[in-house]
Amino acid sequence: MVNFEELKNYLEEKRSKIEKTIEDYFPKKGSYGKRVLEAAQYSLMAGGKRIRPILCLIGYELYKDNSEEVLLFACGIECIHTYSLIHDDLPAMDDDDYRRGKPACHKVYGEATAILAGDGLQALAFEWFTHPDLIKRIDPFLLIKAIHCIATAVGFNGMVGGQMADLLAEGKRGSYKKLKWIHTHKTVALIRASLLSGALLANAPSSHLRVLSKFGYHLGLLFQIVDDFLDLVGDEKTLGKPVKSDLKKKKLTYPSLFGLNKTKELAQITANTAIETLKPLEEKAKILEILTLYLLNRVN
Ligand code: IPE
Ligand code: IPE
Ligand code: MG
Ligand code: MG
Ligand code: MG
Repeated sequence: MVNFEELKNYLEEKRSKIEKTIEDYFPKKGSYGKRVLEAAQYSLMAGGKRIRPILCLIGYELYKDNSEEVLLFACGIECIHTYSLIHDDLPAMDDDDYRRGKPACHKVYGEATAILAGDGLQALAFEWFTHPDLIKRIDPFLLIKAIHCIATAVGFNGMVGGQMADLLAEGKRGSYKKLKWIHTHKTVALIRASLLSGALLANAPSSHLRVLSKFGYHLGLLFQIVDDFLDLVGDEKTLGKPVKSDLKKKKLTYPSLFGLNKTKELAQITANTAIETLKPLEEKAKILEILTLYLLNRVN
């Protein structure tokens, strides 16, 4: 893969496979509790770039031919990510009304149902990570390593801790040190773990895991810097979520500390650093290099 056009086709192909798998495996019944299933499905299928599950597939494809073997694992990652978005939009958190181009989960189903939908999606992820259809294809030892990697990334010392720090920092003067901590925990941890989990499932050598871990860190940071930037300069329709939300909430973000121009510069530098870390993987990692540039220039 050498250009953006090919990358776009690749992303589109993976996105449709991910969505098909989610549809196939999403719980059908629900009886008296079916409202929460509906709410979870509403947010899960509302769209989204599916970057995290795709990173898992890429991590696997660096070492194995057929990433269909781990599609269900990748979909579990998307469940966790979607849960984090549903909760992130709640009035008690960022209080945002739109997500993925539609009214946020709590706007359609109410807060209580949205909280439960998030809880249920987190559990569903682990149901899929340990699904018999995965166990029959992947060595359970590798599966446990990958699950541990994701669970650690989204827990108290990962995404949840980052979300806590993000909320506590609202309306206060913050430092670069704190900003980095927030971003590396609320966003970087899961992005990095998504890529690593795929490589772990493929039993990648530990020297490569170290490289991918460093790369994932810089890619994740780039992702959140651009997210902060788009909050100010993005187009609401294209983004599918409200703009100026960070500004209203007085969030600690890259633009709030550095202004727009410097933020743009830091995004470019972070992208360069990410690409630099890929050197030891040589041609193998070309797709990650193009993806980095794609995410640097994204508009949604
Ligand atoms: C939004 O993530 C939350 C952040 C960590 C910035 P995405 O930008 O990946 O959202 P979707 O999945 O495409 O909706
Ligand atoms: C959210 O960061 C990170 C999560 C873990 C959900 P943001 O609050 O900046 O994400 P958006 O901008 O609402 O998508
Ligand atoms: Mg938030
Ligand atoms: Mg938010
Ligand atoms: Mg944001």
